[in-house]
Amino acid sequence: MTITIDEMAAFCKRKGLIYPSSEIYGGLAGFFDYGPYGVELKKNIVSEWWRFMVNSRPDVVGMDGAIISPEAVWKASGHLSAGFADIMIPCSKCKSAVRADVFIEDKLKKPVETKELSEIDKIIKKNKLKCPVCGSDFSNSTLLNLMFPVKIGNANEGTTAFLRGETTQMIYLNYKLIQKDARMKIPFGIAQTGKAFRNEISPRNFLFRCREFEQMEMQFFIKPGTGKKWFDYWKEQRLSWYISLGVNKKNLRFREHRKNELAHYAKKAEDIEYNFPFGWKEIEGIHDRGDWDLSTHSKNSKQKLDYFDEETKERFVPNIIETSAGLDRAVLVFLYESYDDDKERGNIVLHLHPRLAPIKVAVLPLVKNKEPVVKKAKEIFNFLKEKMVCFYDESGSIGRRYARMDEIGTPYCITIDFDTLKDDTVTVRDRDSREQKRVKIKDLANHLVL
Ligand code: GAP
Repeated sequence: MTITIDEMAAFCKRKGLIYPSSEIYGGLAGFFDYGPYGVELKKNIVSEWWRFMVNSRPDVVGMDGAIISPEAVWKASGHLSAGFADIMIPCSKCKSAVRADVFIEDKLKKPVETKELSEIDKIIKKNKLKCPVCGSDFSNSTLLNLMFPVKIGNANEGTTAFLRGETTQMIYLNYKLIQKDARMKIPFGIAQTGKAFRNEISPRNFLFRCREFEQMEMQFFIKPGTGKKWFDYWKEQRLSWYISLGVNKKNLRFREHRKNELAHYAKKAEDIEYNFPFGWKEIEGIHDRGDWDLSTHSKNSKQKLDYFDEETKERFVPNIIETSAGLDRAVLVFLYESYDDDKERGNIVLHLHPRLAPIKVAVLPLVKNKEPVVKKAKEIFNFLKEKMVCFYDESGSIGRRYARMDEIGTPYCITIDFDTLKDDTVTVRDRDSREQKRVKIKDLANHLVL
C-alpha cells in the first residue's frame, strides 16, 4: 500500500529526514530543510549521479557555477521573457491564485492544450471553475515570470541580478574555457549540480514543486546533425540510472512534450515520469536544445562561442543535448520506492539501495553499562566509522533499536555480546531478510556489501 504525499511529508518530519523550513515562524510555502538523515540521503544521490555521469566517463567533466548572475545572462537565455512564466489565475475576491495548467488539468482530468490567456479564461468560464480557497469567481489570467530578482550592493545604486532558474546557464558561459582547459573534443559533456530557484505560483506536493530546489544537470556538446543519436543514447542512460539504484521499471516511463508545451529553448523534449500516488509526474527532462543557448549568448555577449574541429577542419556552433534531473524529486522517488509498512515487524522499513542509505551500519551493544561489551562495541564503531557512515546506539531494547534503523533504511545492524569478548565475532543483521549471521570482526568490512 502506498502512502499519500502528506503522509510521506509527515513520515519525513518524524524521522529526521526533511522538515518544513522556518516552521517556528509559521513556515514559508515551497521551502524545506533537510535533517540529519535526509542530508545523507541527498548527498548519496548526488554522489551516485556524479559517479555515473562524470567520474565513470572520459567524455564528461564537472563544474560548479555561481548561483547569482547578472540580468544580461537571463535576458539572453530567454528566462526573463514570457517563455519562462506560468499562467496564473487570480481569485477576484480573496486574491489567492492558482497555476492554470495544473489547476485545470486537476479539475477536468485532461491536459491544457493552449498557452493563450484568452483561451484559458474561456475554459475557466465554460466549465464554471471557481477559486478553491473561497469559492468565488476568478479574475482574468495573467503571466507570472518565475525568476527571483536580488539586489546587489546598496539599495539605491545597486544592480539587479537574479537567482538562477536552472543550473545550466553557467555551463554555457564557461564552455569554451572548460573545453580548452580539460582538452575536450566534441562530443563531450559538462555536468553540474546545485540549487535553482523558481517563484512557483502554487508550490505543492511536498518536495515535488518547491521554490528552492536542486538540479543535477549535464549538457552534452555535439556536432549539428547528430542530435537524434545522442538524444536516444542519453534517454536510455538516464532511465538505467534510476533502475540501477532500485527503482522498479514499471514505475518509470517516458513522455514526449507536445509542441505547445516545449520550453522556449527546446526543439524536442521527453520527460522521465514516475508513478507517484498523485499521478505520473516528471522527474527529469531530456532536451534537444539545438544551438539556441550558445547562439543567443554569442549574439548578446558578442563573443565567439563556436568550435573548431581539428580533424575535419570544420567550424560550427555545437548543438546541445541536456539531461536535467531534479534532486528533490529523486529523493521522493527513492523514498516511495523503498517505503514499506511491514505489518509483521510492526514498523516501517525503507528498503533503500545500500549506497543511498543515510547510515550504512549501526553498532549496537546488547548489554548496557557492562564495561567490557560497551568498550568492545566502541572499538568496533571507531574501526568502521573510518570506512562508512556508522551509528552507535545503546538505548532501548534491541527490537526497538532494530526498528529505528529499519525506519531510516540502515542496511546492517551489528550486535556485540559476551561471546564477542571470547571469540572476536559479532552478529550482523540484514535489514531486508532479517537474517542474522555470526561474522569475525576482522571480516566485517568485506561482509558489509554496499
Ligand atoms: N535546464 C532545464 C530545466 O531546468 P526543467 O524541466 O524546467 O528543465 C528540470 O527542470 C528538472 O528540475 C525537472 O524535471 C524537475 O525534476 C526539477 N524541477 C523543476 N522545477 C522544480 C520545482 N519547482 N521543484 C522541484 N523540482 C523542480
